[in-house]
Amino acid sequence: MSWNFEELQQQAEQESTSISDARALEEFRIKYLGKKGLVAEIYASLPQLSKEEKPAVGKGANDLRNTVSRIIEEKKTAIKQKEKQSSKRFLDVTMPGVALEAGHQHLITQTIEEICGLFERLGFVIQDGPEMETEFNNFSALNIPEDHPSRDGFDTFYLDAQDPTDKTKKLLLRSHTSPGQIRIMKNNKPPLAVIIPGRVYRPDAVDASHSFMFHQIEGLLVDKDVKFSDLKGLLTAFCQRFFGRDIKMRFRPHFFPFTEPSAEVDISWAKGKKDWLEIMGCGMVHPKVFEAAGYPKGKYTGLAFGLGVERIAMLKHGITDIRNFYENDKRFLEQF
Ligand code: DAH
Repeated sequence: MSWNFEELQQQAEQESTSISDARALEEFRIKYLGKKGLVAEIYASLPQLSKEEKPAVGKGANDLRNTVSRIIEEKKTAIKQKEKQSSKRFLDVTMPGVALEAGHQHLITQTIEEICGLFERLGFVIQDGPEMETEFNNFSALNIPEDHPSRDGFDTFYLDAQDPTDKTKKLLLRSHTSPGQIRIMKNNKPPLAVIIPGRVYRPDAVDASHSFMFHQIEGLLVDKDVKFSDLKGLLTAFCQRFFGRDIKMRFRPHFFPFTEPSAEVDISWAKGKKDWLEIMGCGMVHPKVFEAAGYPKGKYTGLAFGLGVERIAMLKHGITDIRNFYENDKRFLEQF
């Protein structure tokens, strides 16, 4: 079989002029350069050719292969270019956009920020404390005796980690935010007014009103001549701002080892209803606590309080199950 290479070259050039997309280009490639394509066929015929014919046919096949390869490269670029331009041309700026759903803060975070914001406006500074604490800060410095039940492993998560400040003790997950008081007092001199929000941990069995992790907000104000009336005035101002002016509240005597006297604050806001709901503990800082923090005896007085964030959010929004906060169900979260 003889080949007219000049004609084949022209034919390839000719055919290529009508190629305008990737599919046509692929067909073209298969026809000439594919396994069973024309160039392969020509190479396959070489063994049957005479010695004299071989070089010319071989060269013709090589040239044809080079031409076709060049055409393919050129076309590829051209097609890409065209696709780019056409996608530009079809951009319709009047088409409605894809709306992105905006997220928002979790109700717990909103509540913490709202409460902290109210105290900030009253002059308090917001501070952080670590969730991993020493037994000293979490209990001893707060005048909680060695045999107090809350120190038991059933009531506190002890970590498998040695306390670097007391090698006989283990570190623990703080069971309340009150150890934040000790940290602040160890490092600062009065007058001071701080708010310490954060997570706390207790090995409670989980039910509608208990979780092994929840949030508290601690408050501490230390100065000379702080009185119980300051505590009452401060917490009344807070409750009225947070729950509304008509809120009814009372200070009910209670016991906490780290305050003396101590009280619990109850509120009642459902009109016509008589039941009181406890929302926080409070009191005047115990002299033993000042002593543990290294303050001189008798020089300062202070007030302290601690409230549970979940509890307050549940009361304010009528939520009946604490587990709702942690389940990440959008149908719940989106309501707030
Ligand atoms: N730490 C207490 C608790 O977890 C709450 C508390 C009560 C904090 C009285 C205080 C306080 O600062 O004065 O139950």
